[in-house]
Amino acid sequence: MAESRPKVWVSQPLFDDIVERLHAHFDVVQVPDVSEHDAAAIAAALREVDGALVTLNERIGRDEIADAAKLRAIANVGVGYNNLDIDALQARGIVATNTPDVLTETTADFGFALMMAAARRVTEAERHLRAGQWQGWNFKGLLGADLHGSTLGILGMGRIGQGIAKRASGFDMRVLYHNRSRLPAEVERAFNATYVDFDTLLAQADHLVLVLPYSAASHHIVDAAALAKMQPTATLTNIARGGIVDEAALADALANGRLASAALDVFEGEPAVDPCLLALDNIVLTPHIASGSLATRRAMVALAVDNLIAALGVGPDAGRPPS
Ligand code: DGY
Repeated sequence: MAESRPKVWVSQPLFDDIVERLHAHFDVVQVPDVSEHDAAAIAAALREVDGALVTLNERIGRDEIADAAKLRAIANVGVGYNNLDIDALQARGIVATNTPDVLTETTADFGFALMMAAARRVTEAERHLRAGQWQGWNFKGLLGADLHGSTLGILGMGRIGQGIAKRASGFDMRVLYHNRSRLPAEVERAFNATYVDFDTLLAQADHLVLVLPYSAASHHIVDAAALAKMQPTATLTNIARGGIVDEAALADALANGRLASAALDVFEGEPAVDPCLLALDNIVLTPHIASGSLATRRAMVALAVDNLIAALGVGPDAGRPPS
């Protein structure tokens, strides 16, 4: 009798030519309709499989794995993994992997683009033009803030934070950062970045970019009190996770002239966006696309596939420690 092959669940249609590699080792179960991805649908899919390739749309915790007796590995397509309850997975001995490095530069590019868009009011200006409101060159219309010569504040100085700092040197920006732990002196020198405490970062940044992981400790770390410490001329850009910012407090600061502008690629209740943010002109809103270049999204899937193959111990990658 033929030996039955391990089964894996691929939670969303990704890139078929890359996911194809899984077919050499596994029976692949796909659920094409992402709207099915509620907790019960996820639990039902996991119950049947040895491994899963998932995205940040799939929240996987204790309940979802309760009946997943065979499950040994989850490969997340993404560097952030706050969609996974790591304690619950570890308690069951289930390996979890993510996709660091491959998205660093693309995400830093986009963070920079958003910061520039907020500072120079790019989307607001475009809406103005498209609405037929442009009456001719307006000397004082839609004036923004410069990036060059300004102070950049980076909260979270991991790979992507360092990518932003690297780009800032080309804009002659002064770079301040705050991080859980201070970087070694040679790394600070390489990025021309100065470590400061959180309050100093808030007070001195002309442009503050959030690139820290989401956790209980970073939940709403940018709240009303933090925003009140920022300059009213400053901008705030978030490419990390929505829950890091208290969105109601941010909307209030933007509406009442206590912050010049903001750019958000991530939202606490995404894909829902708080109507108080949608109502504002001085904010750039994008649908979680910071890692979204074609090449990078393909590289993320390729790495997640490698990780799943290695974690389940089959194929030429067997034994390679998953990233
Ligand atoms: C991630 O990888 O965590 C991003 O948010 C999506 O690319």
